[in-house]
Amino acid sequence: MTDFPKLRLRRLRRTEALRALICETSLEVGDLIYPLFVVEGRGLRQEIASMSGIFRYSVDLLPQEVKEIAKLGIPAVLLFGIPEYKDEVGSRAYHPNGIVQQAVRAIKKAVPELIIITDVCLCEYTSHGHCGIVVGDEIDNDQTLLLLAKTALSHAEAGADIVAPSDMMDGRVKVVREILEEAGFHNTLILSYAAKYASVFFDPFRNAVESTPRFGDRRSYQMNPANWREALRAVKQNIAEGADMIMVKPTLAYLDVIRTVRDNFNCPLVAYNVSGEYAMVKAAAKHGWLDERQAILEILTAIKRAGADIIITYHAKEAARWLLPR
Ligand code: PBG
Ligand code: ZN
Repeated sequence: MTDFPKLRLRRLRRTEALRALICETSLEVGDLIYPLFVVEGRGLRQEIASMSGIFRYSVDLLPQEVKEIAKLGIPAVLLFGIPEYKDEVGSRAYHPNGIVQQAVRAIKKAVPELIIITDVCLCEYTSHGHCGIVVGDEIDNDQTLLLLAKTALSHAEAGADIVAPSDMMDGRVKVVREILEEAGFHNTLILSYAAKYASVFFDPFRNAVESTPRFGDRRSYQMNPANWREALRAVKQNIAEGADMIMVKPTLAYLDVIRTVRDNFNCPLVAYNVSGEYAMVKAAAKHGWLDERQAILEILTAIKRAGADIIITYHAKEAARWLLPR
């Protein structure tokens, strides 16, 4: 048995060089995805009250913003749209000239090599704020599927590289894959929000896109935070239906889920460090209660240590500045 003083773990921690040598987890700009909010109008750059440092951009200001993102070495953006109007069936979600479709075209033109991921859901576009079609007081799964497929197809037609269904309806990956194949978009990837929990940590995001449900909540389609075995079933199902990449969301209260999914599947794994997780760090840092840079780098490293390959984070730009080789 190896015992003290033969074994002294502190020998390995003594100098900066030794610590770097034995470091087990690397955090790289190339693993980060930056979410972008796009709004109708011109010349708009509106800071989101609940997410300090994050803005809604009108399409005309996107080229400048995405050039900066690409220059920082961030390889991909995730788009969310705030439409000019909302209705019962979320019709602006799948309109060929909807806000996300316009944004995709503008970004592709400005920075062709930037990977464009689009969030596919109805909640930003429905008057009731739910992710699907409302029938009575329920969210109808199967009626929603066709609209999600149409939304994904319209994003692909605009030039999206990856579509990311976040609605949590059963069978959406299957219908999205089918419609893409039929239309000849064989190479458009699907990043599925496979294990997405009914989490309070999305609250600041809903304020950003005005998608808080007018009645009820999302617990009949998003997962119960108490469950992890169900996450494995959901991931398995999503991969079987054709997901190219899968996601666990949120991250900090779900590091065990990230680890379990990583240990059970070989599919690229994306973790979404969500709005509420971002807002907590910003609020504490603003008060001087913790060192912001250290907090952010510790959190992002922990998400990678848990097993994520890729992290979607509102911290991507600031992290990129700290991580870039100088
Ligand atoms: C749309 C969607 C949400 C988020 C990503 N896509 C909100 C929700 O499901 O209520 C949350 C993102 C975040 O909180 O940063 N369904
Ligand atoms: Zn939604």
